[in-house]
Amino acid sequence: MKTKILVTGGTGYIGSHTVVELQNAGYDVVIVDNLSNSSADVVDGIERITGIRPAFEKLDCNDFEGMKAMFAKYEGIKGIIHFAASKAVGESVQKPLLYYRNNFVSLLNLLELMPQFGVEGIVFSSSCTVYGQPDILPVTENAPIKPAMSPYGNTKQVCEEIIKDTIYSGVPYKSIILRYFNPIGAHPSVEIGELPNGVPQNLIPFVTQTAIGVREKLSVYGDDYNTPDGSCIRDYINVVDLSKAHVIAVDRMLQGKTKQDVEIFNLGTGRGLSVLEILKTFEQVSGVKLNYQVVGRRDGDIEQVWANPDWANNELGWTAKETVEDTLLSAWKWQLKLREKGIM
Ligand code: UD1
Repeated sequence: MKTKILVTGGTGYIGSHTVVELQNAGYDVVIVDNLSNSSADVVDGIERITGIRPAFEKLDCNDFEGMKAMFAKYEGIKGIIHFAASKAVGESVQKPLLYYRNNFVSLLNLLELMPQFGVEGIVFSSSCTVYGQPDILPVTENAPIKPAMSPYGNTKQVCEEIIKDTIYSGVPYKSIILRYFNPIGAHPSVEIGELPNGVPQNLIPFVTQTAIGVREKLSVYGDDYNTPDGSCIRDYINVVDLSKAHVIAVDRMLQGKTKQDVEIFNLGTGRGLSVLEILKTFEQVSGVKLNYQVVGRRDGDIEQVWANPDWANNELGWTAKETVEDTLLSAWKWQLKLREKGIM
């Protein structure tokens, strides 16, 4: 019998790529998603890649009774990967209560329901945002947690605390917290990729939408930072590489190989690239000239951050393998596919 895993936010960007990797690794997947920032068609894309249709429930993780009924329906869920969350930094400043409600209540519901249904572990989607602007780069998992720059960032910090407090209280399950750097790119099959609703907040979808003409011009938020070319530096990681780390984390948790009841891993490449370097590389691989303009800094942006991924490399036996060139090309192919299908 296949081991059953619940993936919340499983039709979303990182969630959908992770469902593919879980199914390829032999897991039976149940997706729960409220479709607030994704579409049910994503399930078709997953099926076209893997040949297996994951179970899908359109459901909000904040709905306690609905989640309870879902656990009862899909009896025997052994592990959870919890992606479902609101994630736009700027929007979180405008709508803090929405962010606190969505990101806290969904986690609380899962943690409370897990023991009732015998779930053994939860992988939590966290972010390098918890480090704020680190004093030492590359940043390790032991770096101090800085005051959050946005309600979104605060939810990730507090969710990590909620998980630790709960696990240390002696509940019968474990957790692995994964701190993502900047996931980009699309599946090589071009069946799934990043498709935010509305105007993209993140760099790469804005870049590809500008390249194809959906957006007129890309704004580069600041070139007066204390970095070699003045633009911000991030650690851009291929989404399929990132997804594979989740399968390793689930294996580790369910096979009792964790060394602590809560483990934390950075998921990045270890390489920092500036916004301007990304734009240049995108132009090279796509052959499209980007219309962009340097504008003022964006509120809440961190100057530079990239990962020290040694702990994940050594403990999980996982490394980010794809080059940024191939990854940007995959994002561009995905955008071309969306155009071909008349979606965007
Ligand atoms: C942010 C969060 C991260 C979160 C992610 C999810 C921080 C520090 N990081 O990542 O935790 O998981 O959002 O949405 O809070 N840029 C432009 N023009 C654009 C868009 C972006 O120049 O149109 C620049 C930004 O200033 C930044 C870089 O591109 O330097 C990456 O931005 P983005 O893709 O939004 O990700 P982060 O802000 O790094």
